[in-house]
Amino acid sequence: MVMSSTNNKKRILSGIKPTGTPHIGNYAGMLLPMLQLAANHADQDVFMFVADYHALNNADARKNLGPLGRELTATLLALGFDPKTCTFYRQSDVPEVFELASFLTNFTPKGLMNRSHAYKAAVAAYGTSFTPSDDLKKMMLSEGDKWSPETLGRLSVEMQQHEANADSGINMGLYNYPILMAADILLYDIDRVPVGRDQRQHIEFARDIAGYVNNAYGQDLLKLPEGVYQADTQEVPGIDGRKMSKSYGNVLPIFAEAAEVEKIVKKIKTDSTLPAEPKDKDNLLVKFHQAMSTPEQHADFLARFLPGGMGYGDAKKEVMAAHEAKFGKARDEYKRLMAAPGELDSILKMGAEKARDVAGPVLRRIRKAAGFSA
Ligand code: TRP
Repeated sequence: MVMSSTNNKKRILSGIKPTGTPHIGNYAGMLLPMLQLAANHADQDVFMFVADYHALNNADARKNLGPLGRELTATLLALGFDPKTCTFYRQSDVPEVFELASFLTNFTPKGLMNRSHAYKAAVAAYGTSFTPSDDLKKMMLSEGDKWSPETLGRLSVEMQQHEANADSGINMGLYNYPILMAADILLYDIDRVPVGRDQRQHIEFARDIAGYVNNAYGQDLLKLPEGVYQADTQEVPGIDGRKMSKSYGNVLPIFAEAAEVEKIVKKIKTDSTLPAEPKDKDNLLVKFHQAMSTPEQHADFLARFLPGGMGYGDAKKEVMAAHEAKFGKARDEYKRLMAAPGELDSILKMGAEKARDVAGPVLRRIRKAAGFSA
């Protein structure tokens, strides 16, 4: 039977994948909501984890999981998160989650995973990557815009071959991602999972999978979690105006040194509006300033910047100052922590012990129901 938490607090869980040096897009999008969640520990039992097993399906991230996990941990701590107020752990320090994930695969219809947005996006990205072979290209070019039946036939064959390989480059870790995520949640009898709307399908899958297991054993073996969907957080674009992403090389790291911040902020894309002219409120500098200042500071900036009179160079200086004011002090703590891997590891270890104390009995309950020694 599903146990409820020892106290009557609702159990809440959220995880963050360590996939790169945290930047201010991550700050606004997930770190800040996470810190706010953790601050709410008086009336809820908060579980928070570094989802490093989830980064394993990514060929780049997996080369670096140790450092990436420590970077994310140090970032959260430097930003003021207090690990004593909740159960904070690294996913891979609780390997029970892999056992549960493997267990859950047996109850998960393959068709459910075929519908996964992340998987479908990977297949779709592959679909648009079709290019004809060199031979065929030559035929197409030499025939101009009216292709012969032979050329069309070859094109159709090559496209079919491409289609048949749609799963190339997709590993089972990506395909099974929703199952591991279900295990993250079900392993701790979680009540609520606060996440961005992009994670909605994952939470619904976790509920579906728990339902299949409960149905198979004719009892409430696993607790069905509820998704709590945060309003879309303000998105900070990259310095070139596209989505902020390491792969575009357009990020502003949270803990960049002042000199690096200056270099990056100077590159933020602006137009040719003159200092005296009014500025567009959708200007990139406005978004950067907003992400790093209080509403009052931001209103003050807008009042001086938008009507005209302040040039982009001066506005950029204010963006740099906002970065320094917001993150300068935390950066010192971040650097201290990164130079103290032993301290980070012992914090993570303490959290893993708490997490395993909860996970162990749940896993035993499941093993017992399945007829395995518990
Ligand atoms: N998939 C989530 C993301 O990409 C991270 C995550 C992994 C997670 N496991 C979780 C979030 C469990 C909430 C609960 O953002």
